[in-house]
Amino acid sequence: MSRLSRRDLLRALGGTAVAAGVGVPFARGVRGATSTGAPLPSRLPLPRPYQRPLTLPETLRAGPGGLYTIVQRPGVAEILPGVRTPIWGYQGRFPGPTLRSRSGQEIVVRHRNELPVPTVVHLHGGHTPAADDGFPTDLVFPVGTGPVQAHAGHHDPLARVAIGSRDHRYPMRQRAATLWYHDHRMDFTGPDVWRGLAGFHLIGDDEEDRLPLPRGDRDLPLMITDRSFAADGSLAYPVRGDGPGVTTRYAAGVLGDVIVVNGVAWPYREVPAVRHRLRLLNASNARRYRLTLDPPPPGGPAFAQIGTDGGLLAAPVWHDAVEIAPAQRFDVVVDFGRYRPGSIVRLVNTWGTGGTRDVLEFRVGAPAPDGTAVPARLSEVPPAEVPVTTRTFRLRHDPVRGMTGWTIDGKPFDPALSVARPRLGQPELWRLGSDFHHPVHLHLAPFRVLSRGTGGPGAYDHGWKDTIDLRPAEQAALLVRFDDYAGRFLLHCHNLEHEDMAMMAAFTTT
Ligand code: C2O
Ligand code: CU
Ligand code: CU
Repeated sequence: MSRLSRRDLLRALGGTAVAAGVGVPFARGVRGATSTGAPLPSRLPLPRPYQRPLTLPETLRAGPGGLYTIVQRPGVAEILPGVRTPIWGYQGRFPGPTLRSRSGQEIVVRHRNELPVPTVVHLHGGHTPAADDGFPTDLVFPVGTGPVQAHAGHHDPLARVAIGSRDHRYPMRQRAATLWYHDHRMDFTGPDVWRGLAGFHLIGDDEEDRLPLPRGDRDLPLMITDRSFAADGSLAYPVRGDGPGVTTRYAAGVLGDVIVVNGVAWPYREVPAVRHRLRLLNASNARRYRLTLDPPPPGGPAFAQIGTDGGLLAAPVWHDAVEIAPAQRFDVVVDFGRYRPGSIVRLVNTWGTGGTRDVLEFRVGAPAPDGTAVPARLSEVPPAEVPVTTRTFRLRHDPVRGMTGWTIDGKPFDPALSVARPRLGQPELWRLGSDFHHPVHLHLAPFRVLSRGTGGPGAYDHGWKDTIDLRPAEQAALLVRFDDYAGRFLLHCHNLEHEDMAMMAAFTTT
């Protein structure tokens, strides 16, 4: 196995011709350098975009006693028209069913594992007790696994291993927001999510309900992912032998060449000429997007951003384009009433080329009554507090166990090692530094971005975030306060290849 030298990486980042025996490990062109990763070409003919309608994942209903049950199992999906693609899914679907919960109302979700591998589910953006959060070694082994098998081979003395199923208690002591749930198995999150283990979890509350925002079928959760396909229609993923991680060529991230929204390649949606809320989620392993409307609407910016990872902004922020890194959410309102009926309006990724530029097509229909508005005040967001502790974390490319990998402060992920012990209730300043693109995510608490480099927060840093889009050679400062739950949580890069190749660290709140 060849290892990338630091020089190869820097050369790739410099955008000069790179062969270096391992191909071009990082996204083309760094003038472009819009994503850190390597393109994985599909091996079957790809369809024309915009042939099939957008679908919306079904809402999961609670069973007796209010218990939600999700079965993780293999399924078959039609992602490309007429092509049967085996997937792993929550309820055998990709995306999984949408959960809808209410702020302040605890729910319990039972996950039953009928897949051939152990899994562990995490509610991303959840303010969740440690035992329910989905720590990467808290594995649920498949139904029928023997106890000896389940306890062998793990070196984390604190792991809470289960067989068959686990009940996750989510107190939901948090505001309305667009969350998502996905697999978090140590070393294998990239392939597991790529195979389909991801779904939406939408929290509602009274504050949001009082606003005149679009709702019902004018409120569209959009899970945007990129995927690549093998010749037989299965999902391609460049696994490294039977161990964790990907081949060296893809060590920086896997970039698919098909853009899949809610499980359908390049869908279209017919919309009445009224305001819609789009809940944009980038659930891609490594790809970053710059989303805009083509053509742009007459008379003003395309998007009114009303929310982000941690829910509503204080006031709307207007954008012509939205830059979205893996795991981030942007809730935007688009007014299709500004287009002439019959218009074709595309949500495009201006950082993509060819098929990765196309995302989703809206076919604007007739005007309809529209009682919605984008209010000038959305929510109360308190002023940032004064931190009492400062910590620094450096994210960078490093060899890990003799192979190419990614570390935080030079250390590969060790589940048994806590790199910080934040006190509950105390505001902290977290300084992050990066070498390449690293979408850095914290569990348990949302944060505020205070600065990037020597400037203030960026155009996409408004509101409560749980994932910051760190760009190459960038530094940022976050203000975070962990509350309520003592225990073991995570800080990690949400480029899933980086995460699997060790760019993760545990911290323990006390
Ligand atoms: Cu979206 Cu630690 O995960
Ligand atoms: Cu998370
Ligand atoms: Cu990273």
